[in-house]
Amino acid sequence: MSGRIAWITGGGSGIGRALALELANHGWRVAVTGRTRETLDEVAAAAPEGTVRAVPADVTDLAATREAVRKIESELGPIDLAVLNAGVFKPFEAENFDAEAVNATMAVNYTGAVHGIDAVLPGMRERRSGHIALVSSVAGYRGLPLGAPYSASKAALIALGESLKFDFDRLGIRTSVINPGFVKTPLTAKNKFPMPFLMEVDDAARAMRKGLEKGRFEIAFPRPLVYGLKFMRLLPYALYFPLMRKATGR
Ligand SMILES: NC(=O)c1ccc[n+]([C@@H]2O[C@H](COP(=O)([O-])OP(=O)(O)OC[C@H]3O[C@@H](n4cnc5c(N)ncnc54)[C@H](OP(=O)(O)O)[C@@H]3O)[C@@H](O)[C@H]2O)c1
Repeated sequence: MSGRIAWITGGGSGIGRALALELANHGWRVAVTGRTRETLDEVAAAAPEGTVRAVPADVTDLAATREAVRKIESELGPIDLAVLNAGVFKPFEAENFDAEAVNATMAVNYTGAVHGIDAVLPGMRERRSGHIALVSSVAGYRGLPLGAPYSASKAALIALGESLKFDFDRLGIRTSVINPGFVKTPLTAKNKFPMPFLMEVDDAARAMRKGLEKGRFEIAFPRPLVYGLKFMRLLPYALYFPLMRKATGR
């Protein structure tokens, strides 16, 4: 897959930044998108010369997302791999339920990814090739405490990827859903609760690159947390709620 073109949203920090550098060091040319020009430029400067291009855009803005893809494809060439990774997380308690906060999370995590798909799909359909990866989370396996908007947005992404895979397979487009556990990034740095099996961001990026290059549908890590939460997903509600309450104290 060397020399191919990847586009990563949320590529200016955390997982997106680490994946951009990981891909750039493995022969890819990468365009990184986010709202902050400076952090995108910093990623480009940290990568081997000429391998990473900063293309700022806000993924909640469909027209801006389409324009970013148009720019990338005219300057670098057709996008082979789109990693729709831009995301936000804020701990959330229903005591302070606020529709704006819920909608703001959905607007980036879910609708932002939908905008990314909309932007790359026409080209990929025409070429009958390409790979779209949605960065969801193990928090999308079940509704987790403290994360109603986040879990809802990530569950929606998993379902979106599962449904689209049926059609994308016929269109010659590969689909992946990436479900990381806890990874050390600016997003988790502010968390005050314990984060089991917290991973280094470079290890997460390596696992993502390997899974993507193998064309896996689900790329999930670290294994102990993934298996634990997948087991929780199988449980009936009568067991899930008391067990999760006990595990988290919520
Ligand atoms: N860290 C974890 O433990 C973990 C676990 C599971 C899943 N994830 C998922 O992994 C993804 C990356 O998270 P991270 O931990 O690397 O967090 P992060 O360091 O905060 O990165 C998130 C990135 O998204 C960008 N972004 C936010 N809103 C945007 C918007 N409206 N338009 C364009 N870009 C936007 C941010 O850049 P700007 O602010 O400059 O726009 C930032 O670069 C997220 O989808 C997150 O939910 C993370």
